[in-house]
Amino acid sequence: MRVLITGGAGFIGSRIATAHVARGDDVLVIDNLDTGLRSAVPAGAEFVHADITDASATADCFARFRPELVSHHAAQMDVRRSIHEPSYDTEVNVLGSVNILRNCVEVGVGRLVFASSGGAIYGEPVTIPAAEDSPIRPLSMYGAAKYCVEQYLATFARLYGLHYTILRYANVYGPGQRPDGEAGVVAIFAGLMLEGRRPELFGAGDKTRDYVYIDDVVRAALLATDRGGAGPYNIGTGVQTSDRGVFDAVAAAVGYRGEPTIGPERKGEVRHIALDCRKAEREFGWRATTNFASGIAATVQHLRVAHRG
Ligand SMILES: NC(=O)c1ccc[n+]([C@@H]2O[C@H](COP(=O)([O-])OP(=O)(O)OC[C@H]3O[C@@H](n4cnc5c(N)ncnc54)[C@H](O)[C@@H]3O)[C@@H](O)[C@H]2O)c1
Repeated sequence: MRVLITGGAGFIGSRIATAHVARGDDVLVIDNLDTGLRSAVPAGAEFVHADITDASATADCFARFRPELVSHHAAQMDVRRSIHEPSYDTEVNVLGSVNILRNCVEVGVGRLVFASSGGAIYGEPVTIPAAEDSPIRPLSMYGAAKYCVEQYLATFARLYGLHYTILRYANVYGPGQRPDGEAGVVAIFAGLMLEGRRPELFGAGDKTRDYVYIDDVVRAALLATDRGGAGPYNIGTGVQTSDRGVFDAVAAAVGYRGEPTIGPERKGEVRHIALDCRKAEREFGWRATTNFASGIAATVQHLRVAHRG
């Protein structure tokens, strides 16, 4: 199968690209290397340095490669930046996505998989774990843009018959994750502890998130492509882990014995969330299987090597 992956030089996209190459697919990665790394693109995948907002560069890629599947992972993924620079966030996350959708229709792509965010679109959920039919009340422009693209997908489907699958990821962590991503706290705490510095907890450290390991996410993306419908599908664990819980897990993996410093509560952040992922299990047989402590140990091990290098 010919698979075009936007954002395929990034944390999640590069791992999905690797999985497609491993199963014998032809892979083309489009990425502007804003946060991604050229070195993360797997050998065996073609790489085009282009921006998803560039109509002519993307049209050339689609016309030449004629993808059967598009995995759309390119995004401005910094939630705080979306609040400070909402126009920039819209340009990349909405207009760039619409440009990709338009290209899909132009060349008759069989299916598009979209990386949405379960951590950002529900806002503060009424019921935890939040299922896919929970009220959509984002607390950031990033979340609003992700939901906006979900609506564009449904509209493109009604107008042009585009087939798509929406995956609403929880906070994805693992080797190669970025400190400014949605699960940034894992990389931040680990980086500081490995340098012997004290991490800061904001507020009481009782804010909770649903942390899902990268390998589980990659498996979900491939299974959903093969067997899923339009979704949306939450991809998480259903478990809430507090900032203090992350601190303790990372400290255990690093062998760090200090205590955190306590900073003021940060405004505009979701306080508690976890995702109900039973729909993904029912419809394509996926559930997260990585235990948090072992996922954290693998992440810390990766950072330890990177720190030494
Ligand atoms: N990491 C998480 O916890 C998480 C949670 C929910 C959803 N997501 C979504 O999953 C996707 C991948 O996230 P990630 O964590 O791998 O982030 P990442 O920053 O590592 O990957 C994003 C990639 O997109 C590229 N990119 C950014 N702007 C671009 C543009 N205008 N044109 C072309 N390429 C561009 C970047 O260079 C990068 O390689 C994103 O859509 C993100 O919103 C991530």
